[in-house]
Amino acid sequence: MTATDPEAVAPVPLSLLRGPGATTALHHELRRTHGPVAPVVLDDGVPAWLVLGYRELHQVTADAELFSRDPALWNRPGTVPDGWPLPPHTGRGAPPVLHTTGPQHTARAAVIAHALAAEDPFRLREQAERFADELVDGFCARGRAEVIGQYAVPLPVRVLAWLLGFPPGLAPELQSALEAVAGGGEGAVEGRRRLSAAVVELVVERGRAPQDDVATRMLADPAGLPEEEIARDLTLMLLAGHRPTSDWIGNSLRLMLTDHRFAASLSGGRRSVVEAMNEVLWEDPPAQNVAGRWASRDTVLGERHIRAGDLVVLGLAAANSDPEVRIDRTALTGGNNAFFSFGHGEHRCPFPAREIAEVVTRAGIEVVLDRLPDLDLAVAPEELARRPSPWLRGVASLPVRFTPAAALGARR
Ligand code: HEM
Repeated sequence: MTATDPEAVAPVPLSLLRGPGATTALHHELRRTHGPVAPVVLDDGVPAWLVLGYRELHQVTADAELFSRDPALWNRPGTVPDGWPLPPHTGRGAPPVLHTTGPQHTARAAVIAHALAAEDPFRLREQAERFADELVDGFCARGRAEVIGQYAVPLPVRVLAWLLGFPPGLAPELQSALEAVAGGGEGAVEGRRRLSAAVVELVVERGRAPQDDVATRMLADPAGLPEEEIARDLTLMLLAGHRPTSDWIGNSLRLMLTDHRFAASLSGGRRSVVEAMNEVLWEDPPAQNVAGRWASRDTVLGERHIRAGDLVVLGLAAANSDPEVRIDRTALTGGNNAFFSFGHGEHRCPFPAREIAEVVTRAGIEVVLDRLPDLDLAVAPEELARRPSPWLRGVASLPVRFTPAAALGARR
């Protein structure tokens, strides 16, 4: 079946994909009814194409010229639905790297990748463990905790704040601003303003007093990017890096606490942590759908006629479960990394950023399991709810209980 307009063939509300349970059955149903590219509507009635097929997603992400990151191409400019985690840059001033194209994108992405890659992985792991220990110290004597709000959310903020170069005391303010952005609505505008203000201050400060951090390295890069672009990209790193890393921690802990194959308590062990993290990237990826790409000319994708300027949503989770590539979905994913969970192509998550997310997630899970070895769910697994978002997929809260333990006080 083909169509020229996502609205012409009874589009599917994308909000269906924010349900509490597994979305795989829904992906299969959409694929059965619509094929690998489905017409969808976002909240506020914005039409788009959702790419469900592994092959088609590869086609879209590999051709950054035909499926561009430039929102100026959109044939329906105007309302951007609330809750879009990284809304397209349509305002004045420099766009973030995410919405640049061609050589400008290549240069900006390289500056980010170099600044992140220069971080010593051992120093990063040590810092992540230190922050994780501090957070566990805050609740370990109580025997109960809610590990999303008390642990998985603050941990990546603290690490990212340290990594980028913010003063140590600023993490709570950054967390509150990031949460305001994630909450959408009026609060999101204010949250963005607070984030930008903190980042601009950091850029000015590091211009004056260089340190061993990402902001300093970006300012010192021979590419000589303007400070405004550096500030935009530092803000983007906070926004793009925080919640997905929190959700990787949360979704992996949820899996380990609910699935006997990854049993978290007591005998879980290191191998099980890495396997659970990989399984999550395949089956329950933090960035389940990503908006978006805009077709730069009329084209055909998965037998659909896509018009110039149509919005294309990357169905990362759906492509991961495409039966064309996942023939036996009961098998564990092992060391297979051919998932789309970090995107693909020019605009994929920069490799050093993925590695940083991996170090933080692994350290976060290992520290909490080391410190609280009999950690167990404090509610029935069916009571665990997801945050209601079709974009980022994470557990809303994860109440746990454990034998109360003494705070470490002195760090490792
Ligand atoms: C589990 C953690 C993470 C996940 C699942 C994730 C996922 C993604 C995905 C799917 C994209 C690509 C979107 C697209 O193709 O349009 C992306 C882009 C990006 N991510 Fe990540 N990310 C994570 C962590 C991070 C971290 C920690 C940072 C920074 C320190 C970061 C920085 C970026 C940047 C700068 C981009 C834009 C790249 C570009 O447009 O050239 N991400 N991420």
